[in-house]
Amino acid sequence: MKVIALDGPAGSGKSTIAGMLAEKIGFLHADSGAIYRTLTLASMQKLGAGNSPQDFGELFQKAVLDPDQLGIQVVLADGKQSNRIGQADVGREIRTPEVTSRIRFIADNVPCRNTVNRLLREFAEQTGVVADGRDMGTVVFPDTPNKFFLEASVEVRARRRYEEMLGQGSSSQSLAEIERDIARRDQEDRSRAVGALRKADDAILIDTSDLSRDGVLSRILAHIQYRF
Ligand code: DC
Repeated sequence: MKVIALDGPAGSGKSTIAGMLAEKIGFLHADSGAIYRTLTLASMQKLGAGNSPQDFGELFQKAVLDPDQLGIQVVLADGKQSNRIGQADVGREIRTPEVTSRIRFIADNVPCRNTVNRLLREFAEQTGVVADGRDMGTVVFPDTPNKFFLEASVEVRARRRYEEMLGQGSSSQSLAEIERDIARRDQEDRSRAVGALRKADDAILIDTSDLSRDGVLSRILAHIQYRF
């Protein structure tokens, strides 16, 4: 298997970097967060979103859903990962704050994690992948020699996310709200009983706070270029 594992907290830039890196070396960008998001949206469609994330959490915990029966499909289309529910590509719908605030129930659920991990490993059987997430280097692809962990302060990550949203037209959240969300998600992601956000012992740590995207990319390339 040809795998580059790229882990890090929300907003550390890993998705952007993973996309750039995958394109550069002709690998697939496998976005594990998008699969958790798709499972979350499919669960919301099945159970209702509840009035609050807590309400949804109760619905989800009572329902005992089989993640493999939720109808999600994660497929390669035109060399990219397409996240589908039934036949519909839900690539945009999975990015809403409603989905993001309910993901933790899915991410804490071991059968859901197993489904995501299986889909990612199936991708890696078919093609070279740059896998981005929280537990790629520790749980899903522990044997790959190419592991990176991207980091940046909460403030830097919130500002990036805010500017990204403004760049797409407008931001539905203020900078302070984004900062609060990111801090909360860090706490959830780091304290998860299974698949917690953690740097693998053999991963290379890159603090992206003061680096451009190209700067991060060239550091990664410097470490992997002779391995494939
Ligand atoms: O990368 P992202 O922000 O789209 O991920 C959304 C959430 O999915 C993240 O807050 C926790 C969960 N997740 C996870 O538990 N494990 C992963 N490997 C990737 C994401």
